[in-house]
Amino acid sequence: MHTTLVPVSMLVHCTADESASATMLVVYPPEERGEAEYYQKLYPAFPFLETENPLTLLEEGKASYLLGRDLTLTCYCPLDGVDSPFLTFLFHTLEDACTYTRSYPNPAQDLPRLIKEYAKLLADGKLVAFPTETVYGLGGDATNEEAVKGIFAAKERPFFDPLIVHIAELSQLDGLVAEVSEQAHVLMQQFWPGPLTLVMKKHPQVADIVTAGSETIAVRMPANPLALALIKASGKPIAAPSANRFGYTSPTTAEHVREQLSGRIAAILDGGACTVGIESTVLALHTKIPTILRPGKIGVQELSPLLGEVALAKQAGPTDTKLESPGLLESHYAPTTPLYLVDDVRQYQSCKDVGVLLFEDIGISFQGPVAYISEDKDSETAAMRLYWAIRKLDGMGLRFMVCSLLPEQGIGVAINNRLRKAATKKEQPSC
Ligand code: TXA
Ligand code: MG
Repeated sequence: MHTTLVPVSMLVHCTADESASATMLVVYPPEERGEAEYYQKLYPAFPFLETENPLTLLEEGKASYLLGRDLTLTCYCPLDGVDSPFLTFLFHTLEDACTYTRSYPNPAQDLPRLIKEYAKLLADGKLVAFPTETVYGLGGDATNEEAVKGIFAAKERPFFDPLIVHIAELSQLDGLVAEVSEQAHVLMQQFWPGPLTLVMKKHPQVADIVTAGSETIAVRMPANPLALALIKASGKPIAAPSANRFGYTSPTTAEHVREQLSGRIAAILDGGACTVGIESTVLALHTKIPTILRPGKIGVQELSPLLGEVALAKQAGPTDTKLESPGLLESHYAPTTPLYLVDDVRQYQSCKDVGVLLFEDIGISFQGPVAYISEDKDSETAAMRLYWAIRKLDGMGLRFMVCSLLPEQGIGVAINNRLRKAATKKEQPSC
């Protein structure tokens, strides 16, 4: 029987989904025996098991998933191109996690089968959306011009906006970039796989459509096991913009991709919620001074110890298409419901039809819906939940939503950059 393993301290949440209980096995380490006995009396329907190392149960196929306290699911699933045989997926809600276990009850078989199937679709020139640690990407074979054209069509993206090419191994850089500079090499060593895109001189072989005619190409190696396995199995470098329609908020769950691209693409590989949650840092290396074209999780603080001086490209106006990076267009990442950036969200406390994005619990109640991007000013959590929260409020038919900027440090710089782009420039309405 395939079961979902639950550490005992999650049990209180697990009862939220009755239907999942049939396949739930509660495991606990010996030091939590007291707590386990307490819960066992409360929930006699659950089988309980004491174990030092729950991972061995996954490995031996006695259970499918380990549900963590932080809404993660861990499973045993060795994949070609991935170091650890244990994969961990993140979810925003317990319901999403439970749905995942039902969709893929035998991950060690289900996921490799899907990856093989979807890799073949990619190799055949079809489009497949896949999870990365930042946001979901809409992938197509970067060496197949028809496939790349299809990406632009599915997204309704203008051809002047170039794509990032994703690789699973450094050897795939051959034929993509003209050369790997010493600087690039150091950055790849340090940050790949990871949320850093490098813009370098392109190899003459790369089709113009990929780079929007530019002499440079943007490349990254994503830190998501499913992405790495999929790219490796396809045997191709994979061009992949964020898997949303042009101008809209990037998707951070498979469901987000489905909402916007279903029917337009061949498949969506579901890997739960993206752990970083905002797009990669785009760093130009072909310029005299390395220049951040789009801020992301990896910022000046991380880059300058390795590079010395690092510049930040100016973020320009809405109609300027001659930018260093066209993704710098001012109006981008925007929800349908207007988002206003305000100094103090408390003035909207009594508005029923105004949604509020909060970065910490400010101890007051709002009449309208509230989405916490973090409860305690944790900016990494805020990045992870940002687009998910914006989409949640956006789907509620509200008059508008409000949010304040975060402290301008670390990943907060990137979050604020996205908030400014998502926000409307119109005058702020009152309640
Ligand atoms: O995290 C990410 O980067 C995600 C995931 C899927 O990897 N991808 C992503 O792609 O955000 P996209 O297409 O939504 O954004 C790519 C950004 C755009 O701003 C584009 O203009 C810029 O990278 N870019 C791509 N190639 C470039 C180049 N040769 N020179 C300058 N900017 C480039
Ligand atoms: Mg995008």
